[in-house]
Amino acid sequence: SLTPTRDDKFSFGLWTIGYNGADPFGGPTRAPLDVVEAVTKLSELGAYGLTFHDDDLFAFGSTDTERQNQIDRLKGALADTGLIIPMITTNLFSAPVFKDGGFTSNDRAVRRFALRKVLRNIDLAAELGAKTFVMWGGREGAEYDAAKDIRSALERYREAVNLLGDYVTDKGYDIRFAIEPKPNEPRGDILLPTVGHAMAFIQTLERPELVGVNPEVGHEQMAGLNFASGIAQALYQGKLYHIDLNGQRGIKYDQDLVFGHGDLYNAFALVDLLENGSPDGGPTYDGPRHFDYKPSRTEDITGVWDSAAANMRTYLLLKERTAAFRADPEVQDALQFSKVNELAEPTLAAGESYAELLADRSAYEDFDASPYFDGKGFGFVRLQQLALEHLTGAS
Ligand code: GCO
Ligand code: MN
Ligand code: MN
Ligand code: MN
Repeated sequence: SLTPTRDDKFSFGLWTIGYNGADPFGGPTRAPLDVVEAVTKLSELGAYGLTFHDDDLFAFGSTDTERQNQIDRLKGALADTGLIIPMITTNLFSAPVFKDGGFTSNDRAVRRFALRKVLRNIDLAAELGAKTFVMWGGREGAEYDAAKDIRSALERYREAVNLLGDYVTDKGYDIRFAIEPKPNEPRGDILLPTVGHAMAFIQTLERPELVGVNPEVGHEQMAGLNFASGIAQALYQGKLYHIDLNGQRGIKYDQDLVFGHGDLYNAFALVDLLENGSPDGGPTYDGPRHFDYKPSRTEDITGVWDSAAANMRTYLLLKERTAAFRADPEVQDALQFSKVNELAEPTLAAGESYAELLADRSAYEDFDASPYFDGKGFGFVRLQQLALEHLTGAS
């Protein structure tokens, strides 16, 4: 069905639908969106979750009373609708104090303040039942090479994440962390710029099992990378703890378009992977389908809710199309021809080592490489065209 339900686990950031249209070249084009209205409307549209940064719910510098009042208003709306808070994150990028970063600012007092801000928000995450705590280090980076000692910055990043791991463990919180990579913007260069960098960093932590990644479609594409392929590796390594779905058209500023309104082929491949796993039945993803997009500055409030609905509808359309793709006998035949499943077969036979491989004359001495010239194609293009036929609804 193309009607979103709670079982689809669609969630939205409060900062997404709440984006007022401000960009570096112009101010807001829309009025602020109240959290109660956001929760009510998302629930009507069929979403199951809302996510937020501390500063989205209560402005930076709010008094304890103002903060509590907003938390209470949110809790009331959740109780009225049944919406949940699957993920929370902390804003360590908007306030001037974070202009050189939070965990990795050159200024030690700023780093201590950042840690306190995050710890306070982890308590709120636990209170609201959030299971994932996202860390997008948008200001953790630099514009000038001489200005940032990258080795020390990574040490401070590690120190911070290790401390957060100690904290949730000691408190007994059921919370895992997800690092969100991005290559640049707002900093000229951001630390942990891609999924690969983040996964390598995670292995250096004291509690790597508590930390995974929250890849965003557009961010990997800003680096010219294949998003679905990065997600496949994150799943393979058991590190896909959360995901940010949106659209991006090529290597340029972060567009945060509606999911599918960018590289539609790759969105098709992504949904196929998340829903159906790899062709040999590899792991699927059962966490929130979280949309981190921005309703374009040109839209009014009707356009905001239309675009929120569009994210979910696109996902469900692709879910239908990928199911039909997998079930199509012609596709199965093409997969077979392309030997896609043969890749799941180990290269050595059971019990074989290099000694047996070296003794196997058919593997080398008697192996005939000549049919591979002009006679033994893989048929990958046919497979891609079949994907297009399904994607466009032609089959
Ligand atoms: C971006 C990022 C951010 C983060 C969010 C969570 O578009 O640059 O996606 O939106 O996801 O702020 O901290
Ligand atoms: Mn983005
Ligand atoms: Mn994001
Ligand atoms: Mn974003």
